[in-house]
Amino acid sequence: MLRQILQIGQEETVPVVLAPMAGITDFAFREVCRDWGADMTYSEMISAKGLKYNSKRTFEIVDLRDETKSAIQLFGRDPQDIANAIRVLQQEQAGRISCFDINMGCPAPKIVNNGEGSALMKEPELAAEIVAAAKKVSEVAVTVKFRRGFDKTHGDAVSFAQRMEQAGTDAVTIHGRLREEYYTGKADWDCIARTKQLLSIPVIANGDVFSPEDAKGILDYTGADGVMVARGATGNPFLFSQIKTYLQTGTYRQISNQEKLQTVLKQAELCVKSKGEHRAIQEFRKHIAWYLKGVRGAAALRQQALGLNTLEQLQSLAMQVFGDSTTDANMI
Ligand SMILES: Cc1cc2nc3c(=O)[nH]c(=O)nc-3n(C[C@H](O)[C@H](O)[C@H](O)COP(=O)(O)O)c2cc1C
Repeated sequence: MLRQILQIGQEETVPVVLAPMAGITDFAFREVCRDWGADMTYSEMISAKGLKYNSKRTFEIVDLRDETKSAIQLFGRDPQDIANAIRVLQQEQAGRISCFDINMGCPAPKIVNNGEGSALMKEPELAAEIVAAAKKVSEVAVTVKFRRGFDKTHGDAVSFAQRMEQAGTDAVTIHGRLREEYYTGKADWDCIARTKQLLSIPVIANGDVFSPEDAKGILDYTGADGVMVARGATGNPFLFSQIKTYLQTGTYRQISNQEKLQTVLKQAELCVKSKGEHRAIQEFRKHIAWYLKGVRGAAALRQQALGLNTLEQLQSLAMQVFGDSTTDANMI
């Protein structure tokens, strides 16, 4: 059912999707995650107000190119702003969007202080109005992503999810942490399991999936219909294919240096094409640092990555690290 709702085709496994991550899930990263098996990818969160005021930067984030399996994530607290954003995006990106997701989980003070993101968990009636307004205009599925709760006393995930279902949302994603926990501690998978038992719409489980075993663990534990990966995919888009193979066969293979090299180079080149060399390489420094995880001499190489300014320098660093196609000797 989730595959149908998200229009992502039939496959054996439950959907394994790349989470929205502001500043990270740009077009280039989404593309390599799809290459490595992500069933669907989410844009960085996009301000519904930014679209209303025609902000150039906001429109840049929407850059979908020729994607067909992308969800757009919107944030805002005005139901009309959200509905208008959906109208505008549907016109701009006809046929490329497989779902609109509404952000009700962002913990960042500048978002929460505007009553947006996870703050909406404290206002379930307004959140429901937002979903209803989005559903009225959207030609594709509308989903909501939220947390275990805002804090211990506000916005319990289970009742919030039930309210969202009543309001007409097609699926929900739950990150098992309170707002005040940001990304610390251990995600609580119990609230996802409890919600799954009570809802008839699909539930996507999110929080602390860093390995194929974690993905199987969260799916078995919660009974969820899909799994979403965020931090585990940074510098490791290969995780999607490993998860899917593991879910089907119970095993998975290691990724060769050659495959890593090709992926880093492809992501960097796409990034340069869409953002221009200067900005792309500045932004890519953090991606290369993530790719260096587990590599021998990573600390020194990360220092080198901080000084990268051109695509050529980046290519040469990537060759130095992953260029040995005969062995994986560079790995610790
Ligand atoms: C740097 C960063 C940026 C994020 N940006 C967003 C965002 O724009 N929208 C959103 O719903 N969640 C965002 N998240 C939360 C993730 O989507 C995800 O819910 C969270 O990281 C837990 O999943 P994980 O344990 O797999 O990392 C962000 C997380 C990180 C680390």
